[in-house]
Amino acid sequence: MNKILITGANGQIGSELLTHLRGIYGEDHVVGSDIRLPKNKDDAGLFEIVDVTDAHRFHAVAKEHQVDTVIHLAALLSATAEENPMKAWDLNMGGLMNALEVARELDLKFFTPSSIGAFGHSTPKKNTPQDTLQRPSTMYGVNKVAGELLCDYYHQKFGVDTRSVRFPGLISYVTPPGGGTTDYAVEIYYEAARKGSYTSFIDEHTYMDMMYMPDALEAIHQLMEANPDHLVHRNAFNVSAMSFAPKGIAAEVKKHIPDFTIDYDVDPVRQAIADSWPDNLDTSAAQEEWGFAPSYDLASMTKDMLTHVREKTTNSL
Ligand code: SER
Repeated sequence: MNKILITGANGQIGSELLTHLRGIYGEDHVVGSDIRLPKNKDDAGLFEIVDVTDAHRFHAVAKEHQVDTVIHLAALLSATAEENPMKAWDLNMGGLMNALEVARELDLKFFTPSSIGAFGHSTPKKNTPQDTLQRPSTMYGVNKVAGELLCDYYHQKFGVDTRSVRFPGLISYVTPPGGGTTDYAVEIYYEAARKGSYTSFIDEHTYMDMMYMPDALEAIHQLMEANPDHLVHRNAFNVSAMSFAPKGIAAEVKKHIPDFTIDYDVDPVRQAIADSWPDNLDTSAAQEEWGFAPSYDLASMTKDMLTHVREKTTNSL
């Protein structure tokens, strides 16, 4: 990668990936794009307004900046997609098709994330294999499975260098996620720091895979720089750093905030989504093919999250 265009650069992953990749490749080598300018627009650096459903504009911006890589992140998350399935189809599939076409036309390397949402009830829940049944029951999941297949198709048919991972819930303190099922695992830290208690919309015993954002950013960087000869599963690698249920993360928070309490007000829509997802993924293909090795576990992530979230909470008072 030498010059990179990121779509959805104001989002949870994009806002941090922009900074991370600029640190590695240089300020002028990473162009951010989103449907609006970032909040800190005066120091946004190279940044373009791009609606990914506008194929013409998408192509023009990639061409103008002479990028060699597109990292396509613009998408609706699972719970929002369930509220508005048609909008999810238009943005998640329309945007992806435009992104793949731009990559084909301009001969760009390509990354887009898939998700644990690409699995469904019939998928083995424990140690979910890399190659397994994928019959998701959500619009988000349908989009993700179709996306995985499209990325394979563009590689096989047109030779586009497509790569991707199935991200679990991503936890970060910079930009909040919006409309995801795993968002509870971010909210809990903010609420713990602000008021010492949290009401979870996910049941206490529901396990899902998770990963801390620094590991997610490095996973993208590492996969994109991996030797293509070693990539057997070039798209949709299972990645995860930990698996826990609300009860487990609450117990970890309590080690830092002894008076912390959690209660439950389960949201049936998000609970049904969570129930259809794996408990924990087998990530051995990512480890073997490109050296995936996350560094944070629940304990080290919780320590770091609480430090940063407390700082933010204090500064905003
Ligand atoms: N974090 C995402 C969501 O909950 C999963 O890919 O929608």
